[in-house]
Amino acid sequence: MAVSANRPAAANGLLKLDEITTYYGQMRILEGISLEVSTGELVCLLGGNASGKSTTLKTVLGIVRPRSGRVLLSGEDMTSWPVPQRIANGIAIVPENRRLFGDMTVRENLELGAVLGDGSTFAEDLGRVHDLFPRLYERRNQLAGTLSGGEQQMVAMGRALMSRPRLLLMDEPSMGLSPALVQQNFRIIKEVHESGVSVLMVEQNATMALSIADRGYVLSTGQIVLEGPASELLKSEDLKRAYLGR
Ligand SMILES: Nc1ncnc2c1ncn2[C@@H]1O[C@H](COP(=O)(O)OP(=O)(O)O)[C@@H](O)[C@H]1O
Ligand SMILES: [Mg+2]
Repeated sequence: MAVSANRPAAANGLLKLDEITTYYGQMRILEGISLEVSTGELVCLLGGNASGKSTTLKTVLGIVRPRSGRVLLSGEDMTSWPVPQRIANGIAIVPENRRLFGDMTVRENLELGAVLGDGSTFAEDLGRVHDLFPRLYERRNQLAGTLSGGEQQMVAMGRALMSRPRLLLMDEPSMGLSPALVQQNFRIIKEVHESGVSVLMVEQNATMALSIADRGYVLSTGQIVLEGPASELLKSEDLKRAYLGR
C-alpha cells in the first residue's frame, strides 16, 4: 500500500501523542513523548515506578494538560478538549486501583459508566458487559466493596465499557491481584480487545503485558527509551536493561 510521506496521521492511527512534555509545577514529568495506537491494536506502556506511565494516560484523558506537544484522536487535534468531550468521543479509562464506589452495587457502578450517554443504548450496553462478565450479572445487587479483587477489576472494566469506548486506557490492571487472578485478568483484557476495543495499557508486569500486546513502549524517567513489536520486546536484552534501569 502506498503511503504518502506527509500525511498528517496514518489512516488507522486512532491515538497519537506527538512530542508531549508535561509538568507538575516545576517538575518535568514527561519529556517529549511520542506514541501511537492504531485501530484494533493493544499497546502496552511499560516502565518502573514513577516513570510517568499514569501521567501519560492522564494526558490522553485530559486530566493533565501537556505544556507542549499534541494529542490526536483519529488525526484530530484534541489537546485542548475537556475530559467529557474526550469520553464522548470514545475514550474510557480503567483507573489505577479501580476506583469503584464500594458502597454502591455492581449494577449502580455500571450505570455510572453510562452517565454521558443519552440512555438509548443502556440496555444493550449492559447486556454486552454481562455477556463478557456473567459474574457481574450474578452479583448485580452486591455492594462493589464486598467483591473479590478479580471481580472488582471486572466491574472497573465493565464500567469503562458501558460508554462504548473506541480506546480503552488501563492503568496497572493487574496491581494488587493474586498471581492466579493476574492470569485471569489478562485473559479478560485479551477478550475485551478481541471484541473490537483498541487498548493502551500501562503495566509493571512486562512479561504478562507483552504476552497479549501487539506493541509496547518503555518509559524511563519521562522518556520513551525503547519501543517495538511485543514479540521482539519480549526477547530483548535492552528491555531488561531499560526496564530494570541498568
Ligand atoms: N499530581 C501530582 N503532583 C505532583 N507530582 C506528581 C503528581 N502525580 C504524579 N507526580 C509525580 O510524577 C512522577 C510520575 O508519576 P506517575 O505518572 O504517576 O508515574 P507511574 O505511573 O509511572 O508510577 C512521579 O515522580 C510522581 O511522584
Ligand atoms: Mg501509575
